[in-house]
Amino acid sequence: MQTKEIIQKLYTIVQKQAKKPANTFGPDVWETHLLPVIKYAKMLALKRHADVDIVEIAALLHDIASISNSKEIKEHHIHGQRYAQEILSLFHYPQKEIDKVKHCIFAHRGSKQIKRETIEAQCVADGDAMAHFDSLYSLFYLAFEIKKLDPFAGKEFVKEKLERSWNKLTPFAQRLIRDKYKAVKLLLD
Ligand SMILES: [Fe+2]
Ligand SMILES: [Fe+2]
Repeated sequence: MQTKEIIQKLYTIVQKQAKKPANTFGPDVWETHLLPVIKYAKMLALKRHADVDIVEIAALLHDIASISNSKEIKEHHIHGQRYAQEILSLFHYPQKEIDKVKHCIFAHRGSKQIKRETIEAQCVADGDAMAHFDSLYSLFYLAFEIKKLDPFAGKEFVKEKLERSWNKLTPFAQRLIRDKYKAVKLLLD
């Protein structure tokens, strides 16, 4: 199967998974998080001459564990690699490429001190963090609706999440999103 065909199938698989009740983040996470992550990660991959297919596949699958099984949310960067292996093997995607995708998933989180060894992994992690500035409302939804935090705790949660997102960005991505970061700081500080 051609890589482009695999990618098309992944859009269907991941969107379907996001819309299932097992996804504790709610069905809108497809539109409010996953699609913006893919958009930013691909944009960065093109600008930085990274492997766009690897980046798009990894961006699609980066949170697959956390939308599939609530028990795997805490360590979804680890479990996500297993899903990627299973799904991509089904399509006979080359193991060498699967390993590259798995590294991107493993290294995408801002809260974990995992070195991003490839430009592709940097693009996915950057896309993940940049998406938070794009769909701020999804963070408030997470704080107030999913986590049931009170107004003050919710605001702090969002602020901390955005600060972590900002700190995990490469200088390249920070330059692209700086205006939104400043605007958010102005509103929330
Ligand atoms: Fe994640
Ligand atoms: Fe994410």
